[in-house]
Amino acid sequence: MIKALLLRLSESWQRHSGLRDLGLWDLEVNSAGHLCVQGIDTLQLIPRFGSPLLVVNRARLMKDIGALQEAFARAPAGSKIFYSYKTNCVPGILKAMHGAGIGAEVISPYELWLAERLGVPGAMILYNGVDKSDESLESAIRAGILAINIDHVEEIHRLRAAAAGLGRKANVGVRLALSSRSQFGLDVDSGEAHAACKTILSYPEQLSLQCLHVHLTSNAKDTSAHLSFADRALKFMRQLKDATGYTIPYLDLGGGFGVPTTKNMNGIEYGLYRLFGVLPRPPQLGRWQPVSSFMGELIESIEAGCGRLGLPTPRLLIEPGRLLTSRAEFLLASVRSVKRRTRGPTFAMTDAGRLSMTFPCDFEYHEAFVAGRPSAQLDAFYDVMGRVCTSSDWMFRNRLLPKLQPGDVLAVMDAGAYFSSYSSNFAFPRPAIVMVQDGEANLIRAAESFDHLTAMDRA
Ligand SMILES: Cc1ncc(COP(=O)(O)O)c(C=O)c1O
Repeated sequence: MIKALLLRLSESWQRHSGLRDLGLWDLEVNSAGHLCVQGIDTLQLIPRFGSPLLVVNRARLMKDIGALQEAFARAPAGSKIFYSYKTNCVPGILKAMHGAGIGAEVISPYELWLAERLGVPGAMILYNGVDKSDESLESAIRAGILAINIDHVEEIHRLRAAAAGLGRKANVGVRLALSSRSQFGLDVDSGEAHAACKTILSYPEQLSLQCLHVHLTSNAKDTSAHLSFADRALKFMRQLKDATGYTIPYLDLGGGFGVPTTKNMNGIEYGLYRLFGVLPRPPQLGRWQPVSSFMGELIESIEAGCGRLGLPTPRLLIEPGRLLTSRAEFLLASVRSVKRRTRGPTFAMTDAGRLSMTFPCDFEYHEAFVAGRPSAQLDAFYDVMGRVCTSSDWMFRNRLLPKLQPGDVLAVMDAGAYFSSYSSNFAFPRPAIVMVQDGEANLIRAAESFDHLTAMDRA
């Protein structure tokens, strides 16, 4: 009874979703009635590059980068933007990012290696993360990267030893734990973070305290969380200055900046989706604070806070992931079969589910269209399933879609954040990624082959 009611509600939400507008992603319908990106019919991409397929819209990518850069230009001189590599660590995308002047925020030895290999200068690299190898710390020090943000106190002594060994100084940052339930960073209330800063300052030959780092939220629709993080960080800076006379020059505000077209499910939505398959309410477009107003408010508030605390305004660093790439990429997945059960859901069997390709759809709302008729009316509920042989490999449950048939292609929006990062080659090789630009689609990552899947085997 409750389930039926909730499903009816979900049907109404899906039917009247503000996201049924392709313009939100700069996509169109062409004269054949097909989904079209930068003049390219998406249905023509599958025979060329295979299915499933990730499609990056370069114009949309550059637009989102440009909008952020314009908004962030109000930040104090020397402030910088770094793309969070883990969000979509595909060199073809990262190169476009760096070409536009965005730096690299990396969280692993591999990502650091990749940033250096892509030619990112040290001053445009930030190294975060909980598991930094000694070799990677040495590379980071050698490259003179802007900051190695420590996650735990043990890193201080490893960094000191690495710097001493190289006869160089390491630029260090300290990540603050903003919640007692977060495993990241150093505790503020117990004095751990304060003591760590003092320890760093006590080794001026090897360590230079450059940065305070805060990151906690995800897909924030307005500034409230970031304002409170910034406020706590500035108070921390003031206390450190009072205790030591030292002013930390950079404040790294992390990422977590939201997009209008996806939302993270809250606990109740997630529970109802798991329990009853009730797809939650789509994000409401009006709740999203546009990037210019978001950044303007954040920067003004930091300046005002510094004024109140008698601190010079630090140079600001931000590490957006989702904000820069989410809307610039979508996933094409093919429907292989439609199975109607006498009592129970209608299954659309596709070649992409959450266990191989669409993990974010597990806890985020994502819009989807049928590429061959994106404007068609929404007719029926489907459990859209993936191709890994387990019932938990769904893409969507109770998704309202036009009537499907085998051969249809689904286009899942906002695949530019965490889709390829979480993708796996569970039983099938991972798919190709193409970038569309000026009416042409170019492969930026080839589909894996069977040989790739066995390349590291030695038996
Ligand atoms: C330290 C850090 N910076 C930046 C990001 C990017 O976050 P988002 O994609 O929400 O902007 C993350 C993501 O978890 C992160 O952990």
